[in-house]
Amino acid sequence: MTPSEPKAQEFERIVPMRLQRFLARAGVASRRGSENLMTAGRVTVNGVVVSELGSKVDPLVDEVAVDGQVVRLSDGHTYLMLYKPRGYLTTMSDDRGRACVASLVPHDRYPGLFPVGRLDGDTTGLLLFTTNGDAAQRMLHPSHHVWKHYVALVRGVPTAEQLERLRKGVRLDDGMSEPCEARLLSADDAASVAVVPEGMPYGHAVVGLSIHEGRKHQVKRMLAAIGHEVVRLHRDEFGPLRLTSVQPGCWRMLTDEERAAIEAL
Ligand code: URA
Repeated sequence: MTPSEPKAQEFERIVPMRLQRFLARAGVASRRGSENLMTAGRVTVNGVVVSELGSKVDPLVDEVAVDGQVVRLSDGHTYLMLYKPRGYLTTMSDDRGRACVASLVPHDRYPGLFPVGRLDGDTTGLLLFTTNGDAAQRMLHPSHHVWKHYVALVRGVPTAEQLERLRKGVRLDDGMSEPCEARLLSADDAASVAVVPEGMPYGHAVVGLSIHEGRKHQVKRMLAAIGHEVVRLHRDEFGPLRLTSVQPGCWRMLTDEERAAIEAL
């Protein structure tokens, strides 16, 4: 097998497939958007317009085009999201034998899988894994301004003035933080539940924070800079991804729409 040939597992997963799924997997549009392209007569298979929604294609043999432009299935890369629990390091191996996220994802089945960015050992929430180095770079590169949303349980209750300082940027030991979004969340706000499963402890508050930087311990340091220690930290959004339909300690494959959103970044 030459390096460019898909692996056996990729053949099993992709042949044959419905045309709208093929288009969504290739990042052309969402599944629904792809159906609209088909019914509008804009999709051809081997030069013939195909508008029948049940039609199937063999991505290895058939030539699919939209508005005359040939569309290829994206590279067969794997993308999955893990709901990282507390107490796991974001690394694929640890020579000191500490618990690491590698033990929670199917890296034997998907060789080359690695985490996109990192969460601290005591941070929970959305951790993306992929085999696609280019996509990972796009997600992480500061110039792409990929937003991440965190929910932090903090000691004390930040004032409106302190939140405004956070929004404008605070001084950290490696430079000012970029402007961000910050607001207080209520205990029963859906986004807060992960950090206050037993309700809000007395004298604490929950802050929702959206940042597009990824410096080490950034959220903890930003909140410390306004005088509030982070007690628990959880990430529930990463760019176009939301932590949904997955339990703590478990993973799921990204949907076609999620893959397309990442590939379109
Ligand atoms: N900011 C932090 O301080 N820790 C994380 O794990 C992620 C962002």
